[in-house]
Amino acid sequence: MALQTACEASQESRILPLLHPATRDQYAHGGRADHIPRRYAEMDGAELDRRISQAKAALGRRLLILGHHYQRDEIIKYADLRGDSFKLAQQAAARPEADYIVFCGVHFMAESADILSAPHQQVILPNPTAGCSMADMASIAEVEECWETLNEVLGEEAGLVPVTYINSAASLKAFCGEHGGIVCTSSNAFKVMEWAFSRGRRLLFFPDEHLGRNTGHAYGIPEEEMIVWNPKNPQEALDDEARLQRARLILWKGYCSTHMRFSVQQIAKARAEHPDITVIVHPECRREVVEAADLYGSTEYIIQQIEQAPAGSKWAVGTEINLVHRLAQEHPDKLIFCLDPIVCPCSTMYRIHPAYLAWVLEALVEGQVINQVKVAPEVAHWARVALDRMLALK
Ligand code: 13P
Repeated sequence: MALQTACEASQESRILPLLHPATRDQYAHGGRADHIPRRYAEMDGAELDRRISQAKAALGRRLLILGHHYQRDEIIKYADLRGDSFKLAQQAAARPEADYIVFCGVHFMAESADILSAPHQQVILPNPTAGCSMADMASIAEVEECWETLNEVLGEEAGLVPVTYINSAASLKAFCGEHGGIVCTSSNAFKVMEWAFSRGRRLLFFPDEHLGRNTGHAYGIPEEEMIVWNPKNPQEALDDEARLQRARLILWKGYCSTHMRFSVQQIAKARAEHPDITVIVHPECRREVVEAADLYGSTEYIIQQIEQAPAGSKWAVGTEINLVHRLAQEHPDKLIFCLDPIVCPCSTMYRIHPAYLAWVLEALVEGQVINQVKVAPEVAHWARVALDRMLALK
């Protein structure tokens, strides 16, 4: 119930009531440069729409707005290109004519865009607090400690290759670049796994345990040859020494809160109510959920499957609600619903409110770049090596 209330509250068009109390308090003291000015927070949807459209028109081809599929409709309608993490990373690298890339997504995506774009381009994340809780589950210090420990325990035969999901900080991508590893997204994890196993005996896969396990199963790795590394308690894996020695896939204990909400019970209910339904889920879901579904794949894959399906087909979808709602609206000839009855958006994607978009775009029109995401050059160098290895895979 509490979740429903929070979701309902987040549907409000004005942002002020949604701000963190600490941020609201700032306003009492005149506001601070790193927080959205109060006037934007007080504008209604119609005014924000007018301002965003005007600023976008004024900036013309100098501006590229990228929108991840999980963004709300009020944002996605302004995106020049929408896509999943992989497609947006490709797009960021392919549009050098734009001076400004406004990334409507989360922080790690904006970092990747900065790394992949040309030096003259500036990447802006409208709300700098739009992070990713999964990405925060692996820090560079924890990964370095894990790497050292594993190499020590496994010795000469370790043959470890690091693989990071794109949902990770740039420093982790740089770690992979520097240590012969690679980045993956949910749409190319299988190909990346093939690449990595052609270079080593074992993979250290972070930060999503579930994408790693689901891809490992597709690759043919039995569960006994996988082990979970809990950065909060590494001893658990170290105590299970026989399994650690046998492991080909070492899975970081991290997860996506949105995709963890999906369950086998929800799938059973959907099937009981609609015997001819097709269940499709994202690979960030737990193993048993992926096994119980008919199909699984990245956001882009889910969209393609539903788009290509015949009229009258029925779909129960296990991914973020903004995307599922949009699919249902765009395909009224099909039955499309979210597996989770307590529909709640990805809370960090949801932080990109139109008020933030209006704020950063109007600042650009004035020649001011705010909320820029800039990765330090030495980190960007090695992160790019790992990203380029991924982008080069056919
Ligand atoms: P994809 O965009 O790769 O489907 O992944 C979704 C996601 O994790 C967004 O944070």
